[in-house]
Amino acid sequence: MVNQERRSFLRFAIHSLGALFGAVLGIPAACYLIDARNRPAVQRDFRPVQGVRLDDLQKDVPTQGVIRDVRTDAWTLHPDDVVGRVWVVKTGNDDASIRVLATICPHLGCFVNNNPPGSGPGFTCPCHSAKFNIDGSKNTGPQQRGMDTLEWKRDQQDRNLLLVKFENFVQGQSEKVPRT
Ligand code: FES
Repeated sequence: MVNQERRSFLRFAIHSLGALFGAVLGIPAACYLIDARNRPAVQRDFRPVQGVRLDDLQKDVPTQGVIRDVRTDAWTLHPDDVVGRVWVVKTGNDDASIRVLATICPHLGCFVNNNPPGSGPGFTCPCHSAKFNIDGSKNTGPQQRGMDTLEWKRDQQDRNLLLVKFENFVQGQSEKVPRT
């Protein structure tokens, strides 16, 4: 009878220890998986562009806009960080002439600048002197394609607010292929 009780107690103790170890290892693992910082960022289709008001755009005058979003860096969560920039240019009088261009050079990825005053409308990459026309099309230089255009639309409520489907593309080739 005493042996029987001892065996029951030992079985209970072993199971309790097992449950305790499971909790010690499992709870932090569950917390890690549930924590928002460890989940992949939600890919929102269109993001607002700061620094650009659509109705203020002037013909052939590029305006630089900033895109902010949540960015995670190892354990650090940046809730409102700059994740990209765009050039916005209007080459005519209507919305169809508005183009949103990636600032990343399609040659090897440097930041493409607006041409300095006196150089005519367009863009130049400082790294290997790629030149682009004001609509982002290829002019001269080593790049194999024009600046990458991004899909855009006006916000439903604030019609002056620009929303952009922000993405990056593979550099160094003639086709525009989104980076995965
Ligand atoms: S990276 Fe722009 S020209 Fe080479």
